Amino acid sequence: MSTSIRLVKDDLRPPESTGRRHLLSIADLTRDDVERVLGTARTFASSLEREVKKLPTLKGRLIVNLFYESSTRTSSSFELAAKRLSADTLTIKSVGSSVDKGESLKDTALTLGAYDPDVIVIRHPQVGAAHFVARIADAHVVNAGDGKHQHPTQALLDLYTLQQELGRLDGLHVAIVGDVLHSRVARSLVQAFALMNMRCTLVGPPALLPQGLGESTTDINAIRDADVVYVLRMQNERMQAGANFVPSLREYTARWGITPERLRAGQKVMHPGPMNRGVEIDPRVADSGDALVERQVRSGLVVRMAVLYDLLVGGPVGVRALAAAEVA
Ligand code: NCD
Repeated sequence: MSTSIRLVKDDLRPPESTGRRHLLSIADLTRDDVERVLGTARTFASSLEREVKKLPTLKGRLIVNLFYESSTRTSSSFELAAKRLSADTLTIKSVGSSVDKGESLKDTALTLGAYDPDVIVIRHPQVGAAHFVARIADAHVVNAGDGKHQHPTQALLDLYTLQQELGRLDGLHVAIVGDVLHSRVARSLVQAFALMNMRCTLVGPPALLPQGLGESTTDINAIRDADVVYVLRMQNERMQAGANFVPSLREYTARWGITPERLRAGQKVMHPGPMNRGVEIDPRVADSGDALVERQVRSGLVVRMAVLYDLLVGGPVGVRALAAAEVA
């Protein structure tokens, strides 16, 4: 795989203003933006309850999904979100495309740009890759994960899930447990929780808790104080070779694994997937009614529909606007 872009801190600056909006980082959003997207997602959720689930809203638009890292949930939900809104989709995975012949991200983006996409959704192992594409491509760009930096649509779908399941966001306390250091999900969540006036405690082994991200503790018993426990995977692919962040996976599971005994009765548990059952999460927890994992995946579809809608059509959408789009 070619990673011929060299990204430096400066590459995280917002793309030059073209008037075109992107979703690159939670840091770019206001509380109003988040509330608008969650509201649109709720409207789409009710449209999906109908027998015919397709809306003509984005007919004739092209969404390109460019995935340079493995993905099940994120790539499938972006693709289905675009299809449910009647957009055309092109999904390019690094394996099997010219990327594995050494084509640079720049050349791939420019090549796909020749088809005039309306939105490019990109996942890439390098921090800043989505910002880079936003600067060179003539399209709205959505960051579907750049290295350990950001994964804004995951944070939005998690907010949506929490709001649906617990009835509020304001004042909720979430404990994020595990490999925070390598997690773009955690970085986006910490910002999203702050924006929505929620409390967040980071819990894990000392070497996997980055400095300066927020309130943190190595004591697993701290999770009992939280309303929700958000479990992260050990992201071995992002760890530097040879570095030992935990003595062993067995030791990690013994000290920080989420078991029924460590949870309060009825405490809700979330995980962005993929789960490593028996490592960071006990199968009894993963399979219990308090695990919201499948609901997170469901939320991913409507939230990504809302993000595509928001970028391409813009502004709040009510049931009336959707109904009008349906008869168009
Ligand atoms: C996450 C990711 O890829 O950042 N998964 C996801 O998008 N649902 C988390 C992970 O890989 O652990």
